[in-house]
Amino acid sequence: MQPGYESFKKQHGFLRALNEMKALEGPIIEETTEASKRTDNPHAKRVFGKWAQDSKEHSRLLQDIIDGYRGAAYGAICKTCMSDLCDASYNKFVLGKLLEVSKGRFAARDLYDLTKKHLFIEGDLARNYAEMAEMTDDEDMKAELIRLEGDEKVHHEEAQQLIDALEKTYGRLLKEV
Ligand SMILES: [Fe+2]
Repeated sequence: MQPGYESFKKQHGFLRALNEMKALEGPIIEETTEASKRTDNPHAKRVFGKWAQDSKEHSRLLQDIIDGYRGAAYGAICKTCMSDLCDASYNKFVLGKLLEVSKGRFAARDLYDLTKKHLFIEGDLARNYAEMAEMTDDEDMKAELIRLEGDEKVHHEEAQQLIDALEKTYGRLLKEV
């Protein structure tokens, strides 16, 4: 094995994770923006609107980190394998769940299902960012990723609060199939 190969693999894995998360934040921005427009429930409107804004900021930050890497020696080699990232199995799995409720009428049931899916997604994003913070020795990058983890944890709590509120408001409707 050539010297530096382990280091290359480590850097490569980190860059890939950054790109995967960026590819994931994009559709989340779209869907949360759409959800905040399509619901008349003020609580849901506020929460989805906030998630859309936060996800935009996360996406920008991830791009900044990625751009930094592209200037580095490893970046140029990694570029070739980044084009198929949107097909990554993790993204397909999560986005499939995310997008399946984004069509059709936006009734209480849709809002509830969408929020439940986001409860899962936000928790997953928090775990991913925590894992990524462990993948880098750069203290600034580590701090940014831990901050992103914190944001996603807040989103997860907000999703749970919204679920509780929706159950209170639409309880009977949500039990009907
Ligand atoms: Fe989020």
